[in-house]
Amino acid sequence: MSTANSEERLIRRARVLQPDGSFQENDVLLRQGKIAAIAPNLEPSANEIDATGLSLLPGVIDPQVHFREPGLEHKEDLFTATCACARGGVTSFLEMPNTKPLTTTQAALDDKLQRAASKCLVNYGFFIGATPENLPDLNTANPTCGIKIFMGSAHGALLVSREAELEPIFASGRRLIAVHAEDQARINERRRQFQGQTDPAIHSQIQDDQAALNATQLAMKLSKKYQRRLHILHLSTAIEAEYLRQEKPPWVTAEVTPQHLLLNTSAYAEIGTLAQMNPPLRSPHDNAVLWQALLDGVIDFIATDHAPHTLTEKAKGYPQTPSGMPGVETLLPLMLTQAQQGRCSYAQVAHWLAAAPAAAYGIANKGKLLPDYDADLVLVDLEREQPVRREDVVSKCGWSPFEGWQLTGWPQYTLVGGQVAYERGQLHTEVRGQALQFAAP
Ligand code: DOR
Repeated sequence: MSTANSEERLIRRARVLQPDGSFQENDVLLRQGKIAAIAPNLEPSANEIDATGLSLLPGVIDPQVHFREPGLEHKEDLFTATCACARGGVTSFLEMPNTKPLTTTQAALDDKLQRAASKCLVNYGFFIGATPENLPDLNTANPTCGIKIFMGSAHGALLVSREAELEPIFASGRRLIAVHAEDQARINERRRQFQGQTDPAIHSQIQDDQAALNATQLAMKLSKKYQRRLHILHLSTAIEAEYLRQEKPPWVTAEVTPQHLLLNTSAYAEIGTLAQMNPPLRSPHDNAVLWQALLDGVIDFIATDHAPHTLTEKAKGYPQTPSGMPGVETLLPLMLTQAQQGRCSYAQVAHWLAAAPAAAYGIANKGKLLPDYDADLVLVDLEREQPVRREDVVSKCGWSPFEGWQLTGWPQYTLVGGQVAYERGQLHTEVRGQALQFAAP
């Protein structure tokens, strides 16, 4: 067989990240899409990557993205989004159901999987979206990483906000439920109070901390009642983090985005509506408490919530502007820069960006640098600083909220199942990822 996957490849002299966070120079042999050996001085191969000076990490698993296909391809599509993934060292993603049509049926899920197989440079998985009406589909759709519930800030029929609508979903079935936790009733009421105001900074006041906490508490109450596997998406507030520190049972996980760790409401003055997202940016105090919760394991991992909108859409003026910002190209260098600055270790970054999301979603053989694991890998340059520049952005939206930030740890090579998808500024657009498999709960 001569498929790309059956090729052998040798990564020569990489600084391989160790479980203790140190780096050890080694050669890494890849065979049939898997890591075959990690050892010094391996036999020469016809297919070698000289990784001298580069550091090898597991490929990033981004467990929350919005890639817009089908139906919203003017913002992004599965091809452009996964080109951006390859540039950012993201080798697998889990995508949300707020496309057009919504991913609320097996047929819509099948359509996405088919599109992904023909277009995605990296590995893919999709959520099934909950509406108040599609309970049977939620537990039979396959393959899916889980059920997505928008308790607030929803897109059309995806809104499931009232306890009476939520309870049947938590009560039936066992698969993972991931919630966007904002209290829609409170948001509606506060929106009326701020009517007529156009400063984007009020976005964080309308969709306030209490709106987030109310929904997180409701989801937790139902999860505890039915011992239902729950994942809280993009945790944004200190009060939720403190609540989870006290209350979170072992079957609940939570994630945070780099935006909620590293940006706060001061960003509105600098980048205006480009800083508008749901749940909104919060205060520097929230940044600090979320960081501590991540370091302490109250928050389990990191996701980008990559939610591209065009600059034209973002220029409409608040509140007509859509919420969301891109993230797959900056996630890894942002977090590696944090490690370099001593805010966390490199091992923690690899855990939060690869091993932990793999474990939470039951994705076997991914997220670690071990023999027999899939060869989804990223080689980064930890020595060289480079700014985030608009002209370098690969995502169709063409901008980043982090423009101008000096970052280290930019990917130099991204490998998906042993195939080189990105190499020092060049995309190998013929590479294709595979459908992710998820262990049954
Ligand atoms: O800001 C956001 N934008 N948050 C979401 O949860 C959805 C997303 C989008 O799809 O634009």
